[in-house]
Amino acid sequence: MADASSAADLDALRQEALAALTGATDPQAVEAWRVAYLGRSGKVTQALRSVGAQPAEQRREAGAAANRVKARLEKALAVRSEELRSARLDALSDDAIDVSLPGRLAEIGSLHPSTRIMREICAIFERMGFQVVEGPEVEWDRYNFELLNIPKDHPARDMFDTFWIDGAADEDGRSTMLLRTHTSPMQARVMEERRPPIRVVVPGKVYRYEATDATHESQFHQVEGLVVDEGVSFANLKHTLYEFARQLFGGERKVRFRCDYFPFVEPGVDVAIDCFKCDGDDARCRICRGSGWIEIMGAGMVHPQVLRNVGYDPDRYTGFAFGMGPERIAMLKYGIEDIRLFLGNDLRFLSQF
Ligand code: PHE
Repeated sequence: MADASSAADLDALRQEALAALTGATDPQAVEAWRVAYLGRSGKVTQALRSVGAQPAEQRREAGAAANRVKARLEKALAVRSEELRSARLDALSDDAIDVSLPGRLAEIGSLHPSTRIMREICAIFERMGFQVVEGPEVEWDRYNFELLNIPKDHPARDMFDTFWIDGAADEDGRSTMLLRTHTSPMQARVMEERRPPIRVVVPGKVYRYEATDATHESQFHQVEGLVVDEGVSFANLKHTLYEFARQLFGGERKVRFRCDYFPFVEPGVDVAIDCFKCDGDDARCRICRGSGWIEIMGAGMVHPQVLRNVGYDPDRYTGFAFGMGPERIAMLKYGIEDIRLFLGNDLRFLSQF
């Protein structure tokens, strides 16, 4: 092969290769050509390799000549590939479809603000060891009210304007099935199904038979929380909710606990944070309305009667529960002024999140 790198042979090789390339009219043929000449055991590669076998005084010149041929052929390959590519595109654009035009991007969308805030809330509790569980939206009176210490005709039922469902009724003909008015029925369901220790949060939809306005909707979400074990105290409740409020609203927030009434907790509290908008300095603040405090949830120690209702011994087990409205929290956090926007399906609103 020593003579394959003589100047004449190299020239012949170059001409042969260029002629062969003109005959390659599709990508496969071009690739075969590349392998045959420039590939690992292609003719040009071999010619380059044989340079080493030549007498020392010729090596330099022979090597340079072989490399020139190689460079020339690589250039020709690039040109040929491009020619074929644009020829193929020209052929395609004879059809009505221009395949080189970028496609229309599908709109991917984003998570609904209610979903986002609920995930954020649940993630904080998950980091504290809570498990996320879900429950039915169509619920029995027994779970929504009775097991929660709200018997029939109890005045607390007026707190919850209820959508009743026809189809199941008690002996007095009153419906026993409803759309849950809060996520608290899951307290009873989880306790019935498991034994302590219990640490769960329950995100989900709830329904109220109410006229709608800027702060009331007939459908919204809640996130419920429940902790039950031996020796759970009000101090545990306070610590957990402090920690939650700071993680969601920032480390400087103060948290206020005030007595409140819910039949299924004792003592019951409402939990508020100090106003992050005006620090209580603006009498006309649209977030706290001048009070300096923003209520973010209801909470309390699980009522002993509720524990008994699900077969727990209240002398052995204690617990705390809390419930909050993610839409309300999102309204506070993002300055949303009308709760009806959440279900309004207006993309101008939704796409801001
Ligand atoms: N379920 C109550 C409501 O909807 C909130 C709450 C939950 C209060 C748990 C105390 C404990 O208003």
